[in-house]
Amino acid sequence: MAASTVAANFDVFRFDPARQVQPRYQRYTLELAPHTPVLTALLRIRAEIDPSLTLRYSCRSAICGSCAMQINSKSRLACQTPIGPEVERHGRVVVEPMRNQPVLRDLVVDQASFWAQYDRIEPHLKLDPAHPMPEGRTTSMTPEEVDRFKETPRCIACAACFSACPAVEADPAFPGPMALAKLYRFVVDPRDGATQDRLVRIQPNGLWLCLRCHLCTEACPKDVRPSERIRDLKEMAIAVQGGTEHGSKHAIGFKDNIVDLGLLNEMKLVRQTFGVGGMLGQLPQGLKIWRKKPEVIRKPHRIEGADELEKIYAELDKRSETPK
Ligand code: SF4
Ligand code: SF4
Ligand code: FES
Repeated sequence: MAASTVAANFDVFRFDPARQVQPRYQRYTLELAPHTPVLTALLRIRAEIDPSLTLRYSCRSAICGSCAMQINSKSRLACQTPIGPEVERHGRVVVEPMRNQPVLRDLVVDQASFWAQYDRIEPHLKLDPAHPMPEGRTTSMTPEEVDRFKETPRCIACAACFSACPAVEADPAFPGPMALAKLYRFVVDPRDGATQDRLVRIQPNGLWLCLRCHLCTEACPKDVRPSERIRDLKEMAIAVQGGTEHGSKHAIGFKDNIVDLGLLNEMKLVRQTFGVGGMLGQLPQGLKIWRKKPEVIRKPHRIEGADELEKIYAELDKRSETPK
């Protein structure tokens, strides 16, 4: 083998739920050039060593979205991930199926829940009769309006974000980053007549379950930046409906606290989020925190420089956009 190759160890997840109780990892070793994509390596393993290895792929060009998997614990496209940096950093390449979806076999998962969440947001235009196509124009949108959702059409539905999302793992009711990014695309489309209805309907058991961890944005191979689209949806949901969910009440209370004092009044924030009755339910958690950090219930005071924060918020409020 030429000196420009590396001996790469692949620890590949193997599982056939119809025949096996437990998954296992199988090691394969190949001499490969460092720029070789993980997908190419897996296809060589299948062609030359083990024809039973099951995986999903199609375009081999980061277009179709079929080959998303966990590579050294990150949600990645296998056709876009070269082995060199993985071997250099981790000493091996651990390949596993996407998370948050049941394994059908080896690296192939059942994507039914991912697509069910996509269907849930009704991903089609609901045309607004109040905004018909202007005469003589081929589109009713201006370039600036199209710009508002320029990232979302890049999505290739690979589900890497869904696999990386801890909110999906914690609560299967959460629509997931891709569905919410797609929802954003219709909410800001000036031709869509269901903006308010979409924002109201996505809130219970939906939008506010997002933990703002940005792992979806980190995982996305197409820079759709779902977490930023979710942040925008939250702002628009509050503009349409005010604080109706724990999440929106918390966001409003958080801002009120900062504008008022420059720091968080934890007790007040809990009351603003859960109400006086709901505070009782938070009591055990509150006591636990108080034992570790008694200063959280000290009488709040306005910090020095809070005036500057007020000015920042006032400026942000001026710039904040309404849904359309
Ligand atoms: S930011 Fe929200 S949607 Fe994105 S991965 Fe974190 S919890 Fe999931
Ligand atoms: S948003 Fe990005 S990570 Fe999520 S499905 Fe679309 S392309 Fe894949
Ligand atoms: S095979 Fe199509 S995106 Fe990787």
